[in-house]
Amino acid sequence: MNSSELQGKLASSAKATGLEGVVVADTRLSHVDGERGELVIAGVRAEALALEQATRFEGVAARLLELGSGATRPDLHAGLAEARLAAFAVLGDLDRALTLPDAMDALLACVAQGSAGGNALTVLGALPVYVAAGARRRAGLPLIAPNPALSHAEDFLVMLGLPRSAARVRALDAYWVTVSDHGLNASTFAARVVASTGSDVISCVVAALGALKGPLHGGAPGPVLDMLDATRDTNPRAWLEAELAAGRRIMGIGHRIYRVRDPRALVFERVLARLAQADGESAVSAARLAHARRVEEAAVSLLTERHPERPLRANVEFYTALLLEALAIPRALFTATFAIGRCAGWLAHIEEQRRTGKLMRPASRYVGALPE
Ligand code: COA
Repeated sequence: MNSSELQGKLASSAKATGLEGVVVADTRLSHVDGERGELVIAGVRAEALALEQATRFEGVAARLLELGSGATRPDLHAGLAEARLAAFAVLGDLDRALTLPDAMDALLACVAQGSAGGNALTVLGALPVYVAAGARRRAGLPLIAPNPALSHAEDFLVMLGLPRSAARVRALDAYWVTVSDHGLNASTFAARVVASTGSDVISCVVAALGALKGPLHGGAPGPVLDMLDATRDTNPRAWLEAELAAGRRIMGIGHRIYRVRDPRALVFERVLARLAQADGESAVSAARLAHARRVEEAAVSLLTERHPERPLRANVEFYTALLLEALAIPRALFTATFAIGRCAGWLAHIEEQRRTGKLMRPASRYVGALPE
């Protein structure tokens, strides 16, 4: 093989490693239109689902699970409440897992150990308990037991010991509903690959959590806030240029599918506006929001100059950071809080994948040396 053939082979294999545009599953769960900036979850536009219909997390999770499994689901309120209580009851056995310093490591370990042998409902109900208990345990605070009378969202805020109001609970529901599913993102793909081998649901969720933890997927919102803090008293453009010069990416910007602004960013901006209206300036400061818009503008303008061929715009994580900050959720818990919402989508995809009965096993192109 001559050198230009080898270069061509390496280039196409490099592109294939990102699987851009490769369709590997049919799904009824969500549709992402990256050119038009539209997201449809369970047949409904995300903004309608989260804002106009003000769907609760329990509602979207039930719809997704029904679509994934093809079986009707009873109201999830009681099932999730029961699962939260059951998870809390075994926390005594999970102390080592709960006290791991990183919230995602702790969540992974709790799911693997505490939910082993469980089913979709038990793990969906357990996640907020593990996240909240881990946060309080690591902070040396007493644990707060779940309250089965509360919704999943309200109980999460209560178990964390955070301020709650009807507007805050609605905002968290809107967040979880909006992130509940998003096509074949990396963590959902990971869950489907494991499901395709016939493995159990907890192993699928553990795989998905591992993928979500990465900074290119669900690990971006914490660093977005770090960026907003670092640029508070400076010219954002100079700071952003220095980041790029150091070979780092601008967190919260760019997306594999969207070529326009992520529609979820707009949903979250509206949720933030509603929250500010209901709870006043204390929930989210107008100055912080205005600064975030300036940083977004500066980042998009700089990246447009650097990559005129590839539109790079704000993604879901940019305004996730501000929304979770407004709810007083500590930034170390951002990815784990995302996981609670996305778990609904993972579980539905796991069911959907199982129904195909097909093992996912792609091929690789060997570019190493061959024996003589
Ligand atoms: N900051 C700086 N440059 C970026 C960038 C960002 N946020 N996003 C993409 N680019 C650049 C890449 O460096 C690459 O440039 P090159 O061709 O000169 O190497 C080009 O744009 C294409 O990037 P690529 O990594 O091929 O695109 P992708 O589809 O694989 O990446 C993301 C998508 C999300 C991984 C990427 O945009 C990113 O890393 N964003 C920051 C992390 C983030 O916010 N993640 C949350 C996603 S919801």
